[in-house]
Amino acid sequence: MDSDNTLKTPIMVLGATSLIGGHLMARLADEGFDPVALSRRPPRGDACWIDGDLTDPGIGERLPPAATVFSLSPIWLLPALLPSLKARGMVRLIAFSSTSRFTKLDSPEPGERAVAKTLIDAEAAVETWCAEHGVVWTVLRPTLIYDEGRDENVSRIARLVRRFHVMPLAGRGEGLRQPVHAADLAVGALAAAKVPATRNRAYDLGGGETLTYRAMVDRIFEGLGKTPRSLPMPTWLFALLMRLAKPFYPGATAAMGARMGQDLTFDSSAAGQDFGWAPRDFHPRFHGG
Ligand SMILES: NC(=O)c1ccc[n+]([C@@H]2O[C@H](COP(=O)([O-])OP(=O)(O)OC[C@H]3O[C@@H](n4cnc5c(N)ncnc54)[C@H](OP(=O)(O)O)[C@@H]3O)[C@@H](O)[C@H]2O)c1
Repeated sequence: MDSDNTLKTPIMVLGATSLIGGHLMARLADEGFDPVALSRRPPRGDACWIDGDLTDPGIGERLPPAATVFSLSPIWLLPALLPSLKARGMVRLIAFSSTSRFTKLDSPEPGERAVAKTLIDAEAAVETWCAEHGVVWTVLRPTLIYDEGRDENVSRIARLVRRFHVMPLAGRGEGLRQPVHAADLAVGALAAAKVPATRNRAYDLGGGETLTYRAMVDRIFEGLGKTPRSLPMPTWLFALLMRLAKPFYPGATAAMGARMGQDLTFDSSAAGQDFGWAPRDFHPRFHGG
């Protein structure tokens, strides 16, 4: 792993209120930086904050000077912003995308296929624009992000478990997962920004452990201080359950059940070699059981 350990300042964090954002802002402050946050809601703490909507046509004029930009907001909002960021001095961009660009491409849900296509197009637009305009870019694609009590993946399962004391599974839930903690992604983003090896490269970032969906659910029960109780059922029955649950859980889809049997795993070894990516194993801990 080569390193020059420098981060060009000033630094701006787009999406500082995201799961990763709070951890990244804290890390940057710990290292003596003074990043500017941009989001529609105020970030935690007393960071310097610009109240801005990236879809606002006038946002370009309100951007502060920034040499290094971390983008934790949806990557599809970035391409339209790049000329303004460059005009404010951007020379280094670290942008989060998602492994959904691969996993949702063949989804039976048209909305999910559209998300995959949007991610693919946005990544390509960012990479091409930066290459043509002398901005060094790195794209980071996490798998499933969690941060106890805050995310809509692991913490959503934890909420269901708290409420129903049991977790339905489509089939035996044997599809493999690599949940990754938001705090590890903040460490990774910072490390990636510092080393030359990551210049103009994209990385898939899974968590430290690969485990089945069912084992992941078991660990969530354990994190709540409960004995694991999952309820395997035929995929058609799970799909019916999701249809019935839809009015109460708008995110519930039949595709969720189909995916429980699919392996959604990625090789993070390039990130390990290039910037020391070494995320934690999956042992979530929820307060209050
Ligand atoms: N969650 C996952 O499992 C997952 C998995 C893989 C990749 N990712 C990617 O990783 C990154 C962080 O994910 P996350 O789940 O932590 O994100 P998130 O919680 O959905 O937060 C998104 C961030 O973008 C900001 N944002 C969204 N629309 C905006 C707008 N129009 N103007 C200004 N700011 C806007 C939000 O701030 P305000 O709402 O305060 O404006 C928020 O800080 C994202 O790029 C996401 O696509 C997420």
